[in-house]
Amino acid sequence: MSARRIASRIDNLGTETAFAVSGDAAAWMAKGNRVFPFHLGDMNIRTPLNIIEAANRAAVDGHTGYNPAAGIPALRDALAEAVSRDRGQNYSAANVSVQSGGKPVIGKFLNTVMEQGDGVLYPNPGYPIYESQVEYLGGRTQPYTYVVEDGRFRFDRESVVAALDDTTRVLIVNAQHNPTGADADPSDMEWLAGLAVERDLWVLSDDPYIDIRYDGTSHTILEHDGMAERTVILYTFSKKYAMTGWRLGAAIGPESVVDVITKINTNDESCTNHFVQYAGVEALQGDQSGSANILETLRGRRELIVDRLNGIDGVSVPESAATFYLFVDVTDVYKRMGLDPDSEDDVQKFRVSTMHETGVSFCSRSHFGRGTAGEPRVYVRFAYSGIDVADAEEGLAQLKAYWER
Ligand SMILES: Cc1ncc(COP(=O)(O)O)c(C=O)c1O
Repeated sequence: MSARRIASRIDNLGTETAFAVSGDAAAWMAKGNRVFPFHLGDMNIRTPLNIIEAANRAAVDGHTGYNPAAGIPALRDALAEAVSRDRGQNYSAANVSVQSGGKPVIGKFLNTVMEQGDGVLYPNPGYPIYESQVEYLGGRTQPYTYVVEDGRFRFDRESVVAALDDTTRVLIVNAQHNPTGADADPSDMEWLAGLAVERDLWVLSDDPYIDIRYDGTSHTILEHDGMAERTVILYTFSKKYAMTGWRLGAAIGPESVVDVITKINTNDESCTNHFVQYAGVEALQGDQSGSANILETLRGRRELIVDRLNGIDGVSVPESAATFYLFVDVTDVYKRMGLDPDSEDDVQKFRVSTMHETGVSFCSRSHFGRGTAGEPRVYVRFAYSGIDVADAEEGLAQLKAYWER
């Protein structure tokens, strides 16, 4: 055996397999086929111009060198002010560590608070990086799940109780939930907060979609007593300001944790892109009409897509007031095609054959964490952040024809 090998700990590192769906879609397009992209949570909406111009100005003005590991003071101040105002907190710049996107907060937070062997409660289906980082860092995965109640997804308290044990030290909450579109019910958040206090847990409040809301008010666990001292917010500019590729976000929470996260910044990337942080200041403090337009664009897509999907025989779409995801129940279509819900090969066959026959590309349940055997329904995720109304309409007409065959 060669002495040169890949370190064995990498065996425990997972990935975001939804990117593989993009690969499939790109390969299908490269062969000259049309694809209707409902698979990725990326956006085909341009970042508002005032934000782009702020970055441009900052670069021209020479903000192109290294900067503090925790971020430029102007952005840390702006984030502390905006998040304190919107979430009823009392943060200062000392509570903010700027990051290259929201995603890095997950691994850095777990690295900071989780010992090997500690249990971590996290949503499954959910953002796959939770599972990946918990396993990579030697923690114990303790997934909790979601159920449909009164036509909407809601996290399942019983599954939280079933997953936790004496090793549990960390709770991850994604209040406006990817992939189900579930919205945090204040009573559920209060219940989770009670659990976090009783068990003295650290909490990650992963909130990329807090402002992607079409109706009502966003709630998070942070509203409840005893949360501020144990909760780190994953903040990102990616979705609200259509800035996915800029890679700008922050960890916001108790200084004891945030300071360690900044130390990890120093070890990993040194600091976040300098001039991009000025764009973040503009996003938070400048003209907000760009982000309002983004939300209206998403709202228009959502109306059409929910209507067309519900118009397909055998498809049902649980209601969702937030995010830009729909977790669609396709069990009846799937069974009509003679496929086995417990076979992952069949699930992928369903996804790929639908793309080949109709061009419509989406993600499956298994792209959001390992499923558990015997899940009663088959769901697929439609994202509408990357497809215009006209294309969505055309793709979904083809989908209807194929799934109703
Ligand atoms: C639930 C959840 N958390 C975190 C992230 C990461 O966001 P960012 O693109 O800012 O890294 C995403 C992105 O899709 C997400 O859906």
